[in-house]
Amino acid sequence: MNYLTEEQKRRVDELLSQMTLDEKIGQMNQESPSIVGGFDVPFEELIEMMTDGRISKEEFGNIMSSAKQDFHEDAIREGGVGSLMVQDPVKVNELQKIAVEESRLGIPLIFGLDVIHGFRSVYPIAVAEAGCFDPELMEATARMAAKESRASGVAWHFAPMLDISRDARWGRISEGPGEDPYLASVFAAAKVKGLQNDRSDTDNYVAACLKHYIGYGAAESGRDYNTVSMAMHLFYNVYLKPFEAAVREGAQTVMASFNDLNGVPCTVNEFTLRKILKESLGFPGFVVSDANAIRECVVHGIAEDDADAGVKAAIAGMDMDMGTEIYRKHLKEAVLAGKVGMEVIDEAVRRILSVKMWLGLFDHPYVSEETMHRYDTLPEEHIALARKSAEESIVLLKNENDILPIKKEAKVALVGNLADSREEIIGAWAMSWQEKDCVSIYEGMKAEFPNVRYFPCGGPEGDINESEVLAATDYGDVIVAVLGELVSMSGEAASRADITIPGRQRELLERLLTTGKPVVLVLMNGRPLALEWENLYVPAIVEAWHLGIQMGPAVAAVLSGKKNPSGKLSATFPYVTGQCPVYYNHPNTGRPGSKSKFTSRYLDVTPGVLYPFGYGLSYTTFEYSDLTVKEEQDGLAVSVKVKNSGSCGGTEVVQLYMQDVAASLVRPVKEMKGFEKICLESGESKVVSFCLKKQDMGFFDNEGKYHLEDGLFRIYAGGNSRDCLTSEINLEF
Ligand code: BGC
Repeated sequence: MNYLTEEQKRRVDELLSQMTLDEKIGQMNQESPSIVGGFDVPFEELIEMMTDGRISKEEFGNIMSSAKQDFHEDAIREGGVGSLMVQDPVKVNELQKIAVEESRLGIPLIFGLDVIHGFRSVYPIAVAEAGCFDPELMEATARMAAKESRASGVAWHFAPMLDISRDARWGRISEGPGEDPYLASVFAAAKVKGLQNDRSDTDNYVAACLKHYIGYGAAESGRDYNTVSMAMHLFYNVYLKPFEAAVREGAQTVMASFNDLNGVPCTVNEFTLRKILKESLGFPGFVVSDANAIRECVVHGIAEDDADAGVKAAIAGMDMDMGTEIYRKHLKEAVLAGKVGMEVIDEAVRRILSVKMWLGLFDHPYVSEETMHRYDTLPEEHIALARKSAEESIVLLKNENDILPIKKEAKVALVGNLADSREEIIGAWAMSWQEKDCVSIYEGMKAEFPNVRYFPCGGPEGDINESEVLAATDYGDVIVAVLGELVSMSGEAASRADITIPGRQRELLERLLTTGKPVVLVLMNGRPLALEWENLYVPAIVEAWHLGIQMGPAVAAVLSGKKNPSGKLSATFPYVTGQCPVYYNHPNTGRPGSKSKFTSRYLDVTPGVLYPFGYGLSYTTFEYSDLTVKEEQDGLAVSVKVKNSGSCGGTEVVQLYMQDVAASLVRPVKEMKGFEKICLESGESKVVSFCLKKQDMGFFDNEGKYHLEDGLFRIYAGGNSRDCLTSEINLEF
């Protein structure tokens, strides 16, 4: 494996040669602490009780914190565990000591965790952060997360999540970079660099885990864990792209997805794991299953029983079993019976040991006393980065009559239960955050607007408080309504069949609007929403997602104009849920949707989408002109002039798209091929130049063969995927 030195490779080989079959299989086993008791009902029922409301989340949390846990100490001592999910550094050291000092060969454990958008400092959820269109920022937040988690002994992040998704019903769209393969690839590369590249000290980096490989975001009808049927040209041109980019950056591990892809669960999919990932892309690291996924192959109906599922997974190239102990219990017998070759086991173990070696775990297995307290208090620079990434992620969707920014001295009536919540700003999968570090929107607003007053009025759940509504509308010169989704409404197992604003919040908005006072809607949510009604009636709409610990100050800065918003959408917002899946880079039909009858449209929805990919307004305006496209030896030189035609300075994401007009396969109506984020003072212009390489203008067919086909190409440049200047060029490759 080329990322290790010769000496390190030698150490891995030597170790491998000393290992028994049991010890090898032990490395392929990942455990999480099991809950073994301390309560009266089975654990599964406890989860059900929380889900159906018989006990509250808080009660569940209390039961869990006092429950008895098994950390698998005996198995570690026997060399039966390769990895564990633990985040407490004291526990990490305790378990690591058993592995290093009490197991026969002293192989260190690798501790992994879902550090998706920050560890102690929580940053915006990925679908929001991707909309910054700022690779350096994406890299910086990943680097910070790596340092914070490594200080707790967590050397492996189950991130970045790279599932492209075009269906906002799917709750996990919040965890990934949105709908577009180009943006997702930029995101993927930046995240891997941030997590892995600062190897000046073992405290500074972790191993990335690209997930969920592959196609999980294309779950049928947006329902989590659902089946995926996908034409292979989409597999190659869209869903594989970010994984490819991340592997190119040296990503150390990959997690296979739960779903089946064209009939074969990705956990046991030899084609995706061996042929594509390990052979074609040359991925040198190891693959871990998703939680419990090997066992679920029995439920999928692809394996007869646990043992069979284990055999199929191992043969397919699944190196590590997350959470089922199937490898530990059944793989030895399968090897002895000749069902799984020894070379399969050796390959998996070599990959796992190599990643541990690369992480420096053999030489630095423990967290020092000093390191583990390094981030007890968050350093200023971490908070500043959280603030910056939050500000850059906010997207201005609508601003009629320049209602925004709001004057500092205005009497602001702040409405909505979400506005005063610290735990609802952090987003799905925040791991180790502390409430004391979170600044709610109300807290942020108080620091910015001296005359803000808070009237909860209602939220995603529950009723509307009429008297608070009256008090709010009575008080405010302007009403800021913070509405949207609870954190629990997006993320894993959080698909929604209706992606409008949940509960009675639209009714609440109606009440606020009937007063005739200006209303600003600030949205907190983990997915694109269907905002047809809100867009019709609310004069100003700000998409603020779940922005992490500095959400409050970031939202306040945008509302006051201290920060001119520049975020763009990484995923399309439909008018109504029934349009899902919906995305800008769709193939054309023979009858593109229009007003006339026999076209590809719905009878009851305006053709098109509400806010397209790449969309986002500013407090200033940008004018595009002079698009030029020139052919050069290896590519196209594209330039476009952008002028800040408004009255204040601002930042714009200038976007480049292309269309292959006629090809041997139907191609998307537009495909992003580049972007550049520029700052312009009022009145200032800049010519933005792109080099579109010819090599990047082709596509893969259903057999995975790359085509560069002569003919007409359309080039587009603009501030979003819909409103672009266009030019045409004929090319011969
Ligand atoms: C999720 C993964 C996650 C794993 C471990 C699974 O349920 O799908 O994204 O990494 O759990 O927590």
